Amino acid sequence: MAMKLFLRPHSIPLITLPPKLLFPKNPKPLTISLFCFNTQAQTQIHYGPSLHKGTKPSSQSQNPQQQQEEQSDLMFDEQSFTRVFDLTALRVPAKDCFALESRLRGHLLNWPRIRNVARVPNDDVDPSLLPLLGSTIQQEDLVSLERRIHGKAEGDGDVLSPVLYRDKLAREFNARGFIKFRNLAKISRPKRKKKNVKEEERSEGNKGIGKSEIALVEVVEEEEGEGDLKGLLGDEFKGTRRKWSGPTRLLLLDERYAARKAEELPEAIKVVLKEDTGQSTRSTFELVRCKLTLFYDYWQMDEILEALLPKGIIVPSAFETVGHIAHLNLREEHLPYKNLIAKVVLDKNKPKIQTVVNKIDAIHNDYRTMQLEVLAGNHSLVTTVVENGMRFHVDLATVYWNSRLATERQRLLNGFTYRDVVCDVFSGVGPIAISAAKIVKRVYANDLNPIAVEYLERNCVFNKLEKKIKVFNMDGRRFIQAIFSSDKANSITQVVMNLPNDAAEYLDAFRGIYTDRPKNEDFTFPMIHVYGFSKAQDPEFDFHERLRIALSEVEVNVEMRRVRLVAPGKWMLCASFVLPESVAFADTTRLDM
Ligand SMILES: C[S@@+](CC[C@H](N)C(=O)[O-])C[C@H]1O[C@@H](n2cnc3c(N)ncnc32)[C@H](O)[C@@H]1O
Repeated sequence: MAMKLFLRPHSIPLITLPPKLLFPKNPKPLTISLFCFNTQAQTQIHYGPSLHKGTKPSSQSQNPQQQQEEQSDLMFDEQSFTRVFDLTALRVPAKDCFALESRLRGHLLNWPRIRNVARVPNDDVDPSLLPLLGSTIQQEDLVSLERRIHGKAEGDGDVLSPVLYRDKLAREFNARGFIKFRNLAKISRPKRKKKNVKEEERSEGNKGIGKSEIALVEVVEEEEGEGDLKGLLGDEFKGTRRKWSGPTRLLLLDERYAARKAEELPEAIKVVLKEDTGQSTRSTFELVRCKLTLFYDYWQMDEILEALLPKGIIVPSAFETVGHIAHLNLREEHLPYKNLIAKVVLDKNKPKIQTVVNKIDAIHNDYRTMQLEVLAGNHSLVTTVVENGMRFHVDLATVYWNSRLATERQRLLNGFTYRDVVCDVFSGVGPIAISAAKIVKRVYANDLNPIAVEYLERNCVFNKLEKKIKVFNMDGRRFIQAIFSSDKANSITQVVMNLPNDAAEYLDAFRGIYTDRPKNEDFTFPMIHVYGFSKAQDPEFDFHERLRIALSEVEVNVEMRRVRLVAPGKWMLCASFVLPESVAFADTTRLDM
C-alpha cells in the first residue's frame, strides 16, 4: 500500500530537510513530499532552540546520495535534524567560571539541556603543570608549554626550559631512576569504569570534551576583537590571543549576542571585562565565536513529530506505559504515519521503552485483552510492571492490564485493613488481589481467563504472597455462589468486582446467598465495590439504577465515585455498598417461579 506524507510550509524548511534524506530510495510503502519553507514562519520563531532555526552542517549536504544509501533502511534521516547555531562565548579561566556564571546568568544562553558553561578540546592543562603557570611566566615558556600540551614531539625545534626539562624527566623516571611503564598498571589491574573513562579522555587529548550525544560546542575562531576590546577598555588595553594558558571554560552567551561586537554587548558583560583588566591592563577573558550543534537526540519527541507530520494533524504526545512497552492509541489520521511515530517514540524514550504498540481494535472479547500491533522495537509483549511496590508479570497479548487504574487501585487498597478478607471476583493477573494480600488477612482471587490465572499464580509467588492468596479459575457468578456457600463466607469482608462492562449484572449472584443458614447466626455482610461505565447525563443515577435492578432492591445505600473519563461523555464509576441483608436472605425460589 503506497501512501503519501506531505509536509506543509509550517514544517521544516526545504534546505534543512531534503526529501531524499528523509526517506529511502524506493520510498515504499511511504513517500514524502516537501514544500518550501516560507519566511513568514521564520519571523514567528521564538527565542530558544528550534528546528526552524539554525543551519544544517555543510558536510551533510555534500553527498546526499551516499547518505541516502546509508539510511536506506530507516524511515527518516536523523542527521536532517542536526542544527548549527552561531554563538558568542566568553572564554574565562576555569576557576572563575562558576562565579561568573551566576553573575551573568541573565545574559547566558540558558537553553534547556545545554550547560551554559561549555568545554572544548584542549581547554584543560595537566594539573602538574599548573604551578608553572603564573603571571610571571614568559611568552617563550608558554610556547614550550603549549607545545607539550598540544602533544608536539620533542625535538621539534624548541629547547625546553630547565624547569620543563626537569618536569619531563620526573615524568619519565621513577624515584630510583628507572623508566616508568605507564601502561603496566593498566594491564595488570582490572578496569575501574569511572576512573578509566576519565583517564581515556585525558589521554586522548580531551577528545570527548565539548561533545555529548545531544550537543557539541566548537570554537570557530578567536574573536579578533582586540580592536573591539581596545575600544571598550581603553588604549591601555594590551590584549593578546589566548591570554590565559591555564584551564579555561566557555560561558555561552545569550543567542541574541551572537553577531554583536564587544561594544554592543550589555553593560553587565562589559563591566566584567573591564573589571578583569582593571589591575593588570591585560584581560584574561576573551570573546570567541563558537558553533553549537544540536543533534537528533537533543530534540524532544513532540518537536520531531511536529516537523515530520503534516500540518493540522495533532501530534500524539501521550502514551500509556506498561513495563517496557509504550502503548499508543493512534487516531485514524495518524495511521499512515504509524511507523514513523513509533520510531520517534522509541528513540525518545529509550532505554525504558523497548517496544511500541498500537491498539488495533476496541476491546470486545470476554477476557478484555487488546488487539495490539507492534510498530517498533522488540516484539515481546511479556513485560514486568511495578505497581504499589509489587512486581507483576504481564503478557499484553493474552491478559488484561491497565496502568491508568493504578491510582484507583491504590485508593481502594487504602480502605483495607489487616482484619479484612478480600474476594476479588475479576482479578486479572492480580494487581488488586496481590497488593491487598500484603495488607489483609486473606484473599480469594478469581478470573475466567486461564492465562490470566497462570500469571496470577506466578505473580503471587513472585511477590512471596502465595500463602495468603487462594486462586480460582471460574465464571464470576459461579465463583460468588461457590465461595459464599462455603465455610469461608462468613469471614469475607470486602468484595471487588472490576469488570466495568458487566460487573453490575453479576450482582444477582448475591441474592439468597445466606438463605440456607439460620438467621440467628452472627453474620458479616461484606462491603461490595463494583465498577461500571455510564454514558448517561447523570452517570451516578444511571449506574445506581443498574445496581438496584440487578439486586432486585427498591433502595440500596450506595457510595458512588467517578473514577475517570474513559472516552468523551463516558464515565467509569465505582459504587461501594454493604450487601443488604434483604438481598443475602432473599427467597430466590419464589423469584424463580
Ligand atoms: C477489567 S479486567 C480487571 C482485572 C484486574 N482487576 C485489574 O484491575 O487489572 C476484568 C477481568 O475479568 C475477567 N473476566 C471477564 N469475564 C469474566 C467472568 N465471566 N468471570 C470471571 N472473570 C471474568 C477478564 O479475564 C479480566 O481479567
